[in-house]
Amino acid sequence: MIPREVVEEIVRRSDIEQVIGSYVTLKRAGSNMSGLCPFHSERTPSFTVFKASDSFYCFGCGAGGDVITFIMKAENVDYPTALEMLAARAGITIPQDNREYRKGPSRERIREMNTAAARFFHHCLMHEPCGAQAREYIAERKLSGATVKHFYLGYAPNDFGMLRDHLRKNGFTEEEMIVGFLCGKSEKTGRAYDYFRNRVIFPIVDTSRNIVAFGGRVMDNSKPKYLNTSDTPAFKKSKNLFALNYAKDHCAEQLILCEGYMDVIALHQAGFENAVATLGTAITEEHARIIAKYTKRVIISYDSDEAGVNAANKAMRLLGAVGVEVRVLKMEGAKDPDEYIKKFGAAAFKSLIEQSRTGFEYKLEAVAQKYDVSQTDQKLRAVADIVGIISDYYSGVEREVYVMRAAERLKVSADALAGDVEKQRNKKLWELKNAQTKEAHASIRDFGDRINPDAAKNPRAAAAEETILGLLLLFPEQRDAVLAGQVSLTSDDFFTDFSRRAFDAIMRLHGEEGGFVFSLLGADFSADEMGRLQSLEVNRRSLTDNGVKVLEEAISVLRGAKEGTGEKSLGDALAEKRKRLAAQRQKNQK
Ligand code: GTP
Ligand code: MN
Repeated sequence: MIPREVVEEIVRRSDIEQVIGSYVTLKRAGSNMSGLCPFHSERTPSFTVFKASDSFYCFGCGAGGDVITFIMKAENVDYPTALEMLAARAGITIPQDNREYRKGPSRERIREMNTAAARFFHHCLMHEPCGAQAREYIAERKLSGATVKHFYLGYAPNDFGMLRDHLRKNGFTEEEMIVGFLCGKSEKTGRAYDYFRNRVIFPIVDTSRNIVAFGGRVMDNSKPKYLNTSDTPAFKKSKNLFALNYAKDHCAEQLILCEGYMDVIALHQAGFENAVATLGTAITEEHARIIAKYTKRVIISYDSDEAGVNAANKAMRLLGAVGVEVRVLKMEGAKDPDEYIKKFGAAAFKSLIEQSRTGFEYKLEAVAQKYDVSQTDQKLRAVADIVGIISDYYSGVEREVYVMRAAERLKVSADALAGDVEKQRNKKLWELKNAQTKEAHASIRDFGDRINPDAAKNPRAAAAEETILGLLLLFPEQRDAVLAGQVSLTSDDFFTDFSRRAFDAIMRLHGEEGGFVFSLLGADFSADEMGRLQSLEVNRRSLTDNGVKVLEEAISVLRGAKEGTGEKSLGDALAEKRKRLAAQRQKNQK
């Protein structure tokens, strides 16, 4: 937690034109500066720096925010790190303020302790006699010396107090060790004892290079195979990915998602530095959001067993929902990437990636497996399923390609299949048109919005929210009106998660001493989310009618849209429409 005065001071002393100018060649364009966007490739400049509001926005790709957001994006770092970098540039020292953590060990303390522990583990692995067996194990797993160093692997001795005593000598308390999950607390004596014993240690490093947690593997077949750090003040399992600290610089195009530490390490060693894994948990929505920040495409390379297939389905769903393109690797002859590379080599794995199946191939395979297509009735059901799937694709070219593939796989005529698909698609379109023309079109427009995935479910509500947020971001008097209750608006009024979070943050800051400052939002929003907020502001600023009246209208539109059909899924709305039509038909017949 960096105090707000310090954030404001850093922003004040970081001239946005100068900072951005050291990354991008800027040319004056009226009162603003513009240049070629560093975040997407373009030939004519749509990247603009607004001196008057100390912000930037790219009209091409939607990147935007303040000087802190710019550093977050350009350097691929989190908010506190971006602040540190700007502070260093401006010659400001950030005070170490521990007020927030008086109650228990601070995040910083636990990170320091983890660093000391990682050194200890690494030293044991490299140099101590007790590490001999671990060294053998590492060699057996074919990890090179360079890899061991790169991942700073370690060994936890088979002892209940060696780490504890070492950390105590380094000034850490037993309470800190217990809260930081390096030690357990003995029920009998109340003393701390080492949690990781006789295990190979994998340090978990976050994207700002802090050691935040550990995984520890046994060296034989005993159980549990892995112990992992539970959530601590320095670590949330559901938010961290193993090796993202390295992968983040190699994954702009695509990221390889695996299940195990050993898979990731083997992949990096073989030159696939864009591999990450979740930490002993299934992928979460938070993971998906984080992944979407770093990459466009994910290659899922989970184990080829049933658990792996189920996990892959979940990952496809969560990643699809945040707009990431998903492909699935099909491994044969090995149970996981680690084994695959050892058996067949890196080149073979590379061609596996190249052949990785798109979401469609994967779905097709699932349909083909579900039915016994040698039997006529089952084949018909498989065809019906696949027609439903293909007819949902927006692009005609894609539909054509998939029809060919499906026809080949299910052994039916492509022409007949194509006919069915187009019939099905026309039927769906007709239903959509009749149901709710505007909503349907808007849904399609918003579909796959990574930053605000809820928007597609209720485009009218989402648009009203954007108006509201634009006004609140720009005008203190509008925030006053909401704070004073002159205009009634609460977070419950919001439909999308993203807008609700934005509203809460804006109003919280506005209510604090010192008031709302755009830069402070960076603590709660990712760089891409900051870009979206910046775009709401930019769009609003270009309009002339910005009174409280507009705010009130938008609020009433939002409420109406929430009550209307919008909140239901499109499918539900369609079903309802069909029911209404049927009822009407019946009435007409009477
Ligand atoms: P190897 O068996 O050494 O190749 O390890 P692996 O990393 O390939 O492990 P595996 O595929 O068995 O499991 C995948 C991941 O699930 C591991 O990397 C761990 O994060 C997690 N995991 C596996 N076993 C356990 C366990 O017993 N407890 C916990 N908490 N997590 C586990
Ligand atoms: Mn494995």
